[in-house]
Amino acid sequence: MLLWDPTVVLTRAMAATDRSAVVIGASSGIGEAVARELAAEGYELGLTARRQEKLEELGDELPTKAYVARMDVTEPEAAREAFVDLVEAMNGADLVVVNAGIGRQNRDLDWEPERDTIDTNVRGFTALATAAMTHFEDQGHGHLVGISSVAAHAGDGTIPAYNASKAFVSNYLDGLRYRAHSRDADLTVTTIEPGFVDTKLAGGDFWKASTETAARQIVDAIEDGKRHAYITRRWRLVALAVDLMPDFALKRVFG
Ligand SMILES: NC(=O)c1ccc[n+]([C@@H]2O[C@H](COP(=O)([O-])OP(=O)(O)OC[C@H]3O[C@@H](n4cnc5c(N)ncnc54)[C@H](OP(=O)(O)O)[C@@H]3O)[C@@H](O)[C@H]2O)c1
Repeated sequence: MLLWDPTVVLTRAMAATDRSAVVIGASSGIGEAVARELAAEGYELGLTARRQEKLEELGDELPTKAYVARMDVTEPEAAREAFVDLVEAMNGADLVVVNAGIGRQNRDLDWEPERDTIDTNVRGFTALATAAMTHFEDQGHGHLVGISSVAAHAGDGTIPAYNASKAFVSNYLDGLRYRAHSRDADLTVTTIEPGFVDTKLAGGDFWKASTETAARQIVDAIEDGKRHAYITRRWRLVALAVDLMPDFALKRVFG
């Protein structure tokens, strides 16, 4: 079923813009804040998620034109179709931020949280990242941004599928970036690895950033065409410490 409602185009175009971006998972948290920050930079926005009313409220507040497409990334075929329709309505997108993600504590190893996390963060992510790259190659240019996590750097016994899914995201984006070199198109791939950001998904309070600070640093990394960015920047120290941690210490921290 086609989930995008082509009638929902919010046209409060106050600033002329020649750049356009799609945010997958724009209805709350980091994705919403990134959409606000990109609109402030003059980007026209395509907003997607399951909660269409939240997207419409957001689109109505943005200073640039906003297109809304309801999308559930756990229905990848329909989501990819909705993406194609959306970028066609927008006359192309220069930037796609694949941000949609979930994370559920699951020490008991129940199946549903693991399944849903993989469906959203791995299958859903890949469905939209590939659709975006295909679009960019067809139009000759584009910038893909994937929201991974510092969690990509180690397994975690309390939330195993989440960390594994983010390791997949970071590694997959590396693959897309290497592949981009052999393409006849101007392609950029940016991996974003946040630490804790103040949303309902945040797994802790340590060095927790506001969504506004996170979004500002993400958009700075986008504008600089970075290959990789930790959000906030000091989380690189945590990632480095985890990378260097011996197995006995990892068991104590993440067991
Ligand atoms: N907060 C943190 O501390 C933190 C740290 C590292 C990485 N991250 C990553 O940042 C990203 C955003 O998370 P957040 O913290 O901002 O949490 P959030 O507020 O819960 O935002 C998640 C976004 O993903 C969308 N989404 C979830 N499932 C979806 C589905 N099946 N189809 C389409 N959209 C879906 C949600 O929209 P709907 O519910 O409306 O569909 C929402 O817009 C995630 O990938 C997360 O793993 C967060």
